[in-house]
Amino acid sequence: MPRHRRDFFYRKAREEGYRSRAAYKLQQINERFEIIRKNDTVVDLGAAPGGWLQVAYELSGGRVVGVDLLKIKDIEGVDTIKGDIRLDETVGKIRELIGEDGADAVICDAAPNLSGNWSYDHARSIDLATSALECALKILKLGGVFAVKVFQGDMFPDFINKARGYFVKVQAFSPEASRSQSAEIYVIGRRLLSGTVNVSEMYSVTIEDIGENGDGIAKINNMVVFVKGTKKGQSVNIRIRDVKPKFAFGDIIG
Ligand SMILES: C[S@@+](CC[C@H](N)C(=O)[O-])C[C@H]1O[C@@H](n2cnc3c(N)ncnc32)[C@H](O)[C@@H]1O
Repeated sequence: MPRHRRDFFYRKAREEGYRSRAAYKLQQINERFEIIRKNDTVVDLGAAPGGWLQVAYELSGGRVVGVDLLKIKDIEGVDTIKGDIRLDETVGKIRELIGEDGADAVICDAAPNLSGNWSYDHARSIDLATSALECALKILKLGGVFAVKVFQGDMFPDFINKARGYFVKVQAFSPEASRSQSAEIYVIGRRLLSGTVNVSEMYSVTIEDIGENGDGIAKINNMVVFVKGTKKGQSVNIRIRDVKPKFAFGDIIG
């Protein structure tokens, strides 16, 4: 980002009482994707000094939890944890704070300490973003949202494809507040899938019932799967075509 733009957001953050100019990135992500809504439970991974936490609490007003290796100075209405997002111990502490229902949104602006060696920093950023994704999968509600910062590079396509396996919609976004600054980009995953079935997987199922629209209903690990052109009691081999948070569609295969 050109220096004058960086200074602009830096000054703006100071004037408006935000702890970091990163606060504007979250505002811009939210304007575009509405990832945080009123009363949402939000977990912010890599949250110090707390600009995103301030914005998250303004947007939600519900439970907001920030995690960082560094201590985060108190923010009214926000709980903080000093811990490493890669550790199960930290996931356990988050769970204790948010309860069994889980989080509506997990957001992550965490960054490794930069070495200046581009491919090394890219690999560490992908590693951290993957840890954030794994943490999110353990604490998000079904249908929840995940947003994570990644430094672009040759491992980026694999990362976004991996995320696509867990969310109905995954997009990459570069907010104006970070544009042309390094190669950071945010990956936004919306509507966490159940994880019990995945697109393209094949199963042998028995049709247990017929739905209102005439499609056969099978169950895989308690997930309802609709299969067109089947009769009750029929055993068929299917391939999963589409997965929604609470049900899936399968097509008969030969
Ligand atoms: C760019 S700052 C976040 C800025 C923040 N979004 C804000 O608005 O104030 C990145 C943070 O990620 C944290 N971080 C890096 N690796 C981490 C890890 N493994 N666990 C927890 N926090 C981590 C760093 O300590 C640093 O505070």
